[in-house]
Amino acid sequence: MKTVSALLHSQPGRYEPTEVDLDGPRRGELLVRMVAAGLCHTDDHVAVGDSPAFRLPIAGGHEGAGVVVEVGPDTPGWAEGDHVVLCFTAVCGECRMCSTGQQNLCDLGGRLFTGARLDDPTSFRMSHRGRPVVQAHGVSALSRHTVVDVRSAVKIDPDVPLERAVLVSCGVATGWGSVTRMSDARAGDVVVVMGVGGVGTNSVQAACAIGARAVIAVDPVEFKRETAVRFGATHTAATMAEGTAIARSLTQGQGADATIVTVGVVDGNHIAEAVDSIRKGGTVVLTGTGGMRQGGIPINTTMFTVFQKRLQGALFGGCNPRWDIPNLLAQYAAGTLELDALVTRTYTLDQVAQGYDDMKAGTNIRGLVLFE
Ligand SMILES: NC(=O)c1ccc[n+]([C@@H]2O[C@H](COP(=O)([O-])OP(=O)(O)OC[C@H]3O[C@@H](n4cnc5c(N)ncnc54)[C@H](O)[C@@H]3O)[C@@H](O)[C@H]2O)c1
Ligand SMILES: [Zn+2]
Ligand SMILES: [Zn+2]
Repeated sequence: MKTVSALLHSQPGRYEPTEVDLDGPRRGELLVRMVAAGLCHTDDHVAVGDSPAFRLPIAGGHEGAGVVVEVGPDTPGWAEGDHVVLCFTAVCGECRMCSTGQQNLCDLGGRLFTGARLDDPTSFRMSHRGRPVVQAHGVSALSRHTVVDVRSAVKIDPDVPLERAVLVSCGVATGWGSVTRMSDARAGDVVVVMGVGGVGTNSVQAACAIGARAVIAVDPVEFKRETAVRFGATHTAATMAEGTAIARSLTQGQGADATIVTVGVVDGNHIAEAVDSIRKGGTVVLTGTGGMRQGGIPINTTMFTVFQKRLQGALFGGCNPRWDIPNLLAQYAAGTLELDALVTRTYTLDQVAQGYDDMKAGTNIRGLVLFE
């Protein structure tokens, strides 16, 4: 069939709505009519060239939700009409990582970068003028229709609006889990969140939910800081120097128990600032990403060792998609997780590039593409 997808034809470049050919679903695949897709910063890393493209064009988007309109043959457990949240880390359910509660690190992850079928790196579901199109993270959420492997989809309760469920596909789960799963923060702690955009705002929510006594939101953009306060931040700061001073003032000079780095484009200096902000034995969770080619992290490694600090990388906030996506939506339904106020502005598929411009101008917490 023909559909329209936000394609990146060059790197650096901008996402352009482009007509593409889409194969019908094969065994183990689903044809999904997209309802909503979120403008996560990660897709912009690809557009600007921070993340290398192995092949172009790329059909972007990895934060998405929609409705199954066709199920491939011999694909048990799925039906037309099922509501799905797409999953940018495919889950096989069988590898060591999946079997030990780390589905976000599933061995299939290494194959997602090809943008081809998971079991055949030479076989693409999408094409443009006869050339293969890479499906970003295996899903291409910024498409009117997409075909995905069932291992990249999580079925959800149809009562949750898809325009809200989409948010847990990446940003919410990533920010939430960065605190609840990847840091050691607990009730009574002091938590710094560095960068309160689409991801970090959810780290603020999570820090409040676990009972942190202080949640310090650091962001150079005033609108982001104001929003963080509405999500429960107790203190705000425009720079890490100020944020760290607040953390120390609350801890007799020791520093934050945990600092979550959710800056849009991370470099080594950001990480060094975060490491400086934590107490002895504290944790920095590194969730934001930057360029693949980068210098080192300017920290004093002896002090890092003797203060026994921890620097923890985090993919999808360490969440297990098959458990955490439905669970976060259950929390939303129960009124204990805020999703509505995360959406600043909505766009059509034609406006994706504008949505990314707005994200970088600092005017959006999360921009959402809604498919009519
Ligand atoms: N690890 C993962 O699984 C994962 C998942 C999703 C997103 N990400 C990454 O997380 C990062 C955040 O994504 P997002 O969608 O929230 O982006 P965003 O652009 O919505 O938010 C980033 C925020 O960082 C702020 N910022 C910029 N410089 C700062 C600084 N020096 N100090 C403090 N704040 C600063 C910006 O003002 C903005 O509010 C990106 O790097 C993205 O690629 C990682
Ligand atoms: Zn994302
Ligand atoms: Zn696996």
